[in-house]
Amino acid sequence: MPQHPAQNVPHTETCALQETIFFLPDSQKSELLERRPPWFYAASDHRAKDEQTVARLFQMNMSFLLNGTLVSVAPKTGSETLLDYLRLEANLCGTKEGCNEGDCGACTVIVTQQDGVPRPMNACILFLPQLQGCSVRTVEGLAGPDGALHPVQEAMIAHHGAQCGFCTPGFVTTMAATHATGETDFDAALAGNLCRCTGYAPIIRAAEAAAQVPVPAWMRERPEPQALQSSDDIFCPQSSDELAQWYARNPDATLIAGGTDVGLWVTKNMQDLGPVAFVSHAKDLRQIHDETDSLRIGAAVTITNLMQAIRPLSASAHQLFSRYGSPQVRNAATIGGNIANGSPIGDGSPALIAMGARLVLRHADARRSLDLEDFFLAYQQQDRRPGEFVESIELPKAQDSLRCYKLSKRFDQDISALCGCFKLEQEAGVITQARIAFGGMAATPARAVKTEAALCGQPWSLETFEQAQAALAEDFTPLSDMRATAEYRRQAASNMLIRYFHDLQESTVNIREVHP
Ligand SMILES: Cc1cc2nc3c(=O)[nH]c(=O)nc-3n(C[C@H](O)[C@H](O)[C@H](O)COP(=O)(O)OP(=O)(O)OC[C@H]3O[C@@H](n4cnc5c(N)ncnc54)[C@H](O)[C@@H]3O)c2cc1C
Ligand code: FES
Ligand code: FES
Repeated sequence: MPQHPAQNVPHTETCALQETIFFLPDSQKSELLERRPPWFYAASDHRAKDEQTVARLFQMNMSFLLNGTLVSVAPKTGSETLLDYLRLEANLCGTKEGCNEGDCGACTVIVTQQDGVPRPMNACILFLPQLQGCSVRTVEGLAGPDGALHPVQEAMIAHHGAQCGFCTPGFVTTMAATHATGETDFDAALAGNLCRCTGYAPIIRAAEAAAQVPVPAWMRERPEPQALQSSDDIFCPQSSDELAQWYARNPDATLIAGGTDVGLWVTKNMQDLGPVAFVSHAKDLRQIHDETDSLRIGAAVTITNLMQAIRPLSASAHQLFSRYGSPQVRNAATIGGNIANGSPIGDGSPALIAMGARLVLRHADARRSLDLEDFFLAYQQQDRRPGEFVESIELPKAQDSLRCYKLSKRFDQDISALCGCFKLEQEAGVITQARIAFGGMAATPARAVKTEAALCGQPWSLETFEQAQAALAEDFTPLSDMRATAEYRRQAASNMLIRYFHDLQESTVNIREVHP
């Protein structure tokens, strides 16, 4: 039986006491607290030094389905990961820890939210409170109640899809999620799972074979909404209004959306997050509103859902987002988190800047909106005041002439060395408007203002674009780093400008074609 790290107190005993107290009325709660056993402070949390802290521990209580069974958990901090919970508390060690940073997929579990769609996600960078009201299925939950293997497990055996087997639980959970949704682009679906020894061909063959078999009945589940009790330190707002009030009172707190950045602060930097708010619980922040000429996109919309909304507007932006991390990362990461972290090499901001997006920021009841490019002031410095958060993004729908180019060392699951996004308008052969934004060329995502000026008012011709290359060299002073040298970035950005001209001439470049 797992022991609590603070003392040799059986973990189940600690939880039983916590859960008993949680469900009592307040008067009886304090009476029972008085009678708690002496080991209780240490067993609940070694940081719990006083009555107030202990009392607060009882205020966070959440539940979710784990392999079909409802479990209630009282997380002690907002930064306990699902992977640690599975392996150290639930004794479900089939889910593996490889990189612990969202890159390898060994920790993949299937998460089904209220929309009933099963999605693969990385347990290593999912915090427990993110799972409130969800269904989580681990590799242990793939076989049927009678022990019958899941079709993907059968197929992996039949097609020799595993050697050492370390990556296999992650592969089969991703494959089972794909099997359940009927997706058949297995290269894309498995881009977030790394295997060092089998080679991918047998695994892809197994996925193809399993696709011929129906989805087992036990895999069809839709979680019921569950009661949730937030605490002041672990806050799960149900709406942006709740978040706004809480964050105005707690401006030093950490906001967590998908956790694909914040997760690494914990797993790699061992950072203590302090009070946290899980913004993705706010339903209105997860919505996309169609407003005739534009979309209003809630900050907590995931990259996966954003991709679907953007597909009818721009095939090119859709393709860019389909190379964003992996399915596991896109299923958790949000566009608000991607903007708010202000990374100079993020993919969302250059695309949205070129698209003419405006950002809506909110503090308590006050809102202001600004052009997205004006949000980025300097490296890791954004125009965001204490207690203010990203509420939504307003995105014009007219994006026919948008093209987005991502350059990275690997095609899938890699951060950009350079991301260039272009949107020019022309009338009667003359360029009338230009929006060009780059990631990877400066300390922030930024517009190429001199290049835009050099293009506007000029005839739409190759000569115009070639002349504008000189202005592009003046717009940016890129850095050399592990992803690319400054000179490579300058040259590649310049080439992208010419590529854009050819693309709009409909002599499109296919970067997946390799010529000798
Ligand atoms: C394996 C891996 C691959 C990746 N690949 C890519 C890639 O290809 N392209 C790319 O651009 N990025 C990539 N990323 C980075 C990451 O996915 C993104 O930056 C992500 O969009 C962040 O969103 P999130 O919801 O996970 O943010 P979180 O990690 O939850 O938060 C990020 C930051 O934003 C803040 N924040 C979150 N929501 C709000 C809000 N509403 N208002 C104000 N502040 C807020 C948080 O406090 C934090 O500072 C990758 C990450 C991983 C782990
Ligand atoms: S352990 Fe590698 S993605 Fe989670
Ligand atoms: S089978 Fe060994 S890492 Fe995939």
